[in-house]
Amino acid sequence: MTQTARKEEESQGAEGFYEPLIRCICERRSIRSFHETQVPDEIIMKILEAGRWAPSGGNSQPWEFIVVKRRDILEKICEIFVKDREQRIREKVNFPGSSKAYIAKVPAMIVVVADPRWKQAYPSTDFTPTLRRMYARNREFIFVKSVAAAVQNMFLAAASLGLGMAWLTGFAEDRMGKKLRRLLKVPEPVRLMAGLPAGYPKVTYHTKFRRPLQDLIHYETYDPTRLKRDDFFRNYCENERNRMTYSAGRMEK
Ligand SMILES: Cc1cc2nc3c(=O)[nH]c(=O)nc-3n(C[C@H](O)[C@H](O)[C@H](O)COP(=O)(O)O)c2cc1C
Repeated sequence: MTQTARKEEESQGAEGFYEPLIRCICERRSIRSFHETQVPDEIIMKILEAGRWAPSGGNSQPWEFIVVKRRDILEKICEIFVKDREQRIREKVNFPGSSKAYIAKVPAMIVVVADPRWKQAYPSTDFTPTLRRMYARNREFIFVKSVAAAVQNMFLAAASLGLGMAWLTGFAEDRMGKKLRRLLKVPEPVRLMAGLPAGYPKVTYHTKFRRPLQDLIHYETYDPTRLKRDDFFRNYCENERNRMTYSAGRMEK
């Protein structure tokens, strides 16, 4: 095979893979409303398998998954979220949040936990206290980003199988984390990272807001004339965030 022919074959192969992948990436949505139809165990296993293949710092694979299908446990998780939301409203937490009542009826939830002792697999040094601190911070980032990669893989696998999931970060918060740790019997030092309710979506989105690609790209070096002013962020939070997060483009199924 000539080099040109091989290149053509490779690029065709790559394009053939890109199309279904980008479609899955674009059509995946955060879903917070589910049919009560059960999700077969094989489907859950396929989602977890995608998580298992995520990249991770030092190939540590720090994640573990708790599959929750028991109704009484899901109801208790829901209660913790609903109560916390009421408390957040009283505390005037500056974030819209959405009703968490759906959690009680979700067919399944994948709780992602991770053992921070895996951070030993990431760069560290005792050369100076400053460097020690710098690397400690970096290890925390690597740990969290590795888990996030596994979550994203699972999101995409779920979407490819016609399922929807949501990413509940409340699992990693101190207050809710304590209660959820007790409920799910997660031993120290294992950390609760995220809860992913999973099921067949009751809603669909014809689109979701994304910034145009050209607004995101700089060529060769950062173009400082395009640095956003502070009011850009204020405006997003005050006028756009709520709709862009929850309702824009949503259609009941
Ligand atoms: C790190 C991270 C944390 C998130 N936390 C929550 C959450 O706690 N609750 C929730 O309902 N959605 C959560 N989301 C989902 C976002 O609201 C959602 O991804 C965003 O609005 C874009 O919508 P889309 O996922 O449908 O494209 C989170 C997403 C990410 C990536």
